[in-house]
Amino acid sequence: MRMKNLKRVEKHLPDKDYKIMESPLLDTAKPMHKSVMTREVTDYLVTETGGVYVDATLGLGGHTQAILEHTGYKCRVIGLDVDEEAISISADLLSKYKSRVVLRNSNFSQIDSVLEDLGIGLVDGIVADLGMSSFQLESSERGFSFMRDEVLDMRMDPRLRFTAHDLVNEMSVDEISKVLKIYGEEKWSKRIASHIIEARKERPIETSAELAKVVSGAIPKKFHPARIHPATKTFQALRIAVNNELDNIKEFLDKAVSLLKPGGRLVVISFHSLEDRLVKSAFRRLSDPCVCPPGMPRCGCGKESVMKIMTRSPVLPGQDEIIDNPRARSAKLRVGERI
Ligand SMILES: C[S@@+](CC[C@H](N)C(=O)[O-])C[C@H]1O[C@@H](n2cnc3c(N)ncnc32)[C@H](O)[C@@H]1O
Repeated sequence: MRMKNLKRVEKHLPDKDYKIMESPLLDTAKPMHKSVMTREVTDYLVTETGGVYVDATLGLGGHTQAILEHTGYKCRVIGLDVDEEAISISADLLSKYKSRVVLRNSNFSQIDSVLEDLGIGLVDGIVADLGMSSFQLESSERGFSFMRDEVLDMRMDPRLRFTAHDLVNEMSVDEISKVLKIYGEEKWSKRIASHIIEARKERPIETSAELAKVVSGAIPKKFHPARIHPATKTFQALRIAVNNELDNIKEFLDKAVSLLKPGGRLVVISFHSLEDRLVKSAFRRLSDPCVCPPGMPRCGCGKESVMKIMTRSPVLPGQDEIIDNPRARSAKLRVGERI
């Protein structure tokens, strides 16, 4: 399988509309995902208590719920997620807000078509909390975690064509190495790729635990990282490749800004440097698009700024939040405002 085949066809997949049903079932259920920087999200995002907001990564609805609680009865939230299972769990969890929420099983790269379908023009704010939820990692049984022995799937959207199993068992050594280097920033990428090829000569690598073992065996013990599992970067890289995450984020950021009312905010939380770099550079480009050579007395390119950056450096979670929710430790929140 060639890397170019990894280009997803998700754009053409049909969206699904979810009605919020009354359901007492999950009222007592344990939370399956702790939302990150909820107070910061609502403080930056909500500029209009009766506004329309988009939660582009609904997950288990934590940020959506916080927005609804923070605003008046006129406020509406459109929640998107590529993961149908996450959408149906949140539909239950958010049942008490049913008239104020619309959920769509859709990729955020298609945010413009979703709003157009709903007859909504510009919105008051958009939030994206990138990556995956603890539910996906721990309970979805799709092989996202090196701590579990599950089928290597890693698709957030089951409609996608290629799984992590396909990539690990069908890509060439160079392709695997490239994926691990680019999407995982893994310095042992070549060695891990050759160990994968060796292992699969005997039989295909079927599960997350099998892959984690091959990766751990590929990195000499004395170089195993002290604080993270040696397979962390490999799993991140495969997940990004399977879900085409970086291209989706790029497409989303450009579209999102154009869908905001003047004064509307775009709030993005990222969890690793590849994501944060994309957000930072998109914000820079949107706030300062001029391409005139330095030293020109006046701008001649005519490119006008569409966004004001509200957070020169990223906002980080407080120590209390990190103690309560260690997953928050790598979160970085950036905010831009539509001009
Ligand atoms: C970190 S979780 C969001 C958690 C949520 N904010 C909460 O408080 O419960 C990220 C979610 O984004 C979804 N997701 C990832 N990429 C997506 C994309 N391109 N379009 C839509 N949803 C996406 C994942 O399926 C996951 O449910």
